[in-house]
Amino acid sequence: MSYRQTTALKKIRSLKNRIKVIQGGSSAGKTIAILILLIDRCIKEPGLEVSVVSESIPHLRRGALRDFLKIMKETGRYIGQNYNKTLLRYEFSNGSYMEFFSADVEEKLRGGRRQVLYINECNSIQYESYLQLAIRTSNEIYLDYNPSTKFWVNSEVIGQKDTDFIVLTYRDNEGLPDDVISMLESNRERAKTSSYWENWCKVYLDGETGNIEGTIFSDYEIIDTIPEDARLLGWGIDFGFSHDPAAVIGLYKYNDDIIADEVIYRTGLINSELASLMKQYDVSGEVFADSAEPKSIQELRRFGFQIKAVEKGRDSVNYGIQILQQKHILVTRRSNNLLDELSKYSWKKNRDGGYEKTPVDSNNHAIDGLRYVAMMKLGARKENRGVPQVGFIKR
Ligand SMILES: Nc1ncnc2c1ncn2[C@@H]1O[C@H](COP(=O)(O)OP(=O)(O)OP(=O)(O)O)[C@@H](O)[C@H]1O
Ligand SMILES: [Mg+2]
Repeated sequence: MSYRQTTALKKIRSLKNRIKVIQGGSSAGKTIAILILLIDRCIKEPGLEVSVVSESIPHLRRGALRDFLKIMKETGRYIGQNYNKTLLRYEFSNGSYMEFFSADVEEKLRGGRRQVLYINECNSIQYESYLQLAIRTSNEIYLDYNPSTKFWVNSEVIGQKDTDFIVLTYRDNEGLPDDVISMLESNRERAKTSSYWENWCKVYLDGETGNIEGTIFSDYEIIDTIPEDARLLGWGIDFGFSHDPAAVIGLYKYNDDIIADEVIYRTGLINSELASLMKQYDVSGEVFADSAEPKSIQELRRFGFQIKAVEKGRDSVNYGIQILQQKHILVTRRSNNLLDELSKYSWKKNRDGGYEKTPVDSNNHAIDGLRYVAMMKLGARKENRGVPQVGFIKR
């Protein structure tokens, strides 16, 4: 691969203020362009000190650090002995250096000083960490991120003096291979029928701030298939018929994460039809359902399912939400309705614009199924009292 002048590179190079906020969609060429500019400056200005920071070392290794080493090697600049693999620091022949460290190490935040700082995917680090780094940076600061939701950059940085702000998208990146462009573009089709994908396209294609504010769940990601070593915990059913759909969700444990897999989401099913669909999808083992429908539970039992009724105690909805919020949820790609609900399910808004600790009672059929099984298989009632948290971003 060879590197070229992309529009992204030109736009970033033209920024003149001390703080350069570079918001953008996926594959806009932000990271590569910033690294190219930083390498260029290190070579031209002897003794320049540059820090590249992100949320963790693994994140650097698969992102900015990997890209940096690749650029150095592919442009014929890399000298093995100049790179200290332990310190993650590359020293140029003129005394300039670029060091890579993570924002989760306190001494690093308060320790060194530098002329230039680049925080990659800065929405994953705390504002306080940013401040510590920024006050020890004498010249420029580069910040890049995908705008999945508003965060401290919006409230504290953009619009302040000495600050540039640009938005880039994949259209600013002429270096992007065609197959990646078609892969990205194919999601526009999905956005026509799914608000999850609509929001996804807004953030990752168009580089605009997503609207997941107030949503209850934000710590989830899509996976293609259920890995073989995932362990089935059970199934959750939310009954429905004419207006609301019946939803059946499988819950799996996978390392520290959970996997949710929607198998049924349909209106108009009588219980015998629901049972035969459940057999078709190999629903077996423990199945948890809403205790408010004893008749349906009894009927499904006659079809041979091991259905357990989930008691709806006081504040059980918030309790179930809390259990799920403590987990990183992997959602199978085929779970269209569950994904749609996850992107919409929100806390009630009160008159002054804040959020109440009560969810809006809609977009919760697949989520209720998921909640029933999560409460029964992951819950530890005694330890989990307290108020629910408003959805937060964790990566
Ligand atoms: N200057 C360039 N010359 C050639 N190819 C480039 C250049 N910049 C980016 N690319 C190509 O585009 C891909 C995406 O670029 P990059 O990783 O910089 O995007 P990004 O905006 O940081 O995306 P993300 O938000 O996903 O981190 C690179 O992996 C590379 O293949
Ligand atoms: Mg990037």
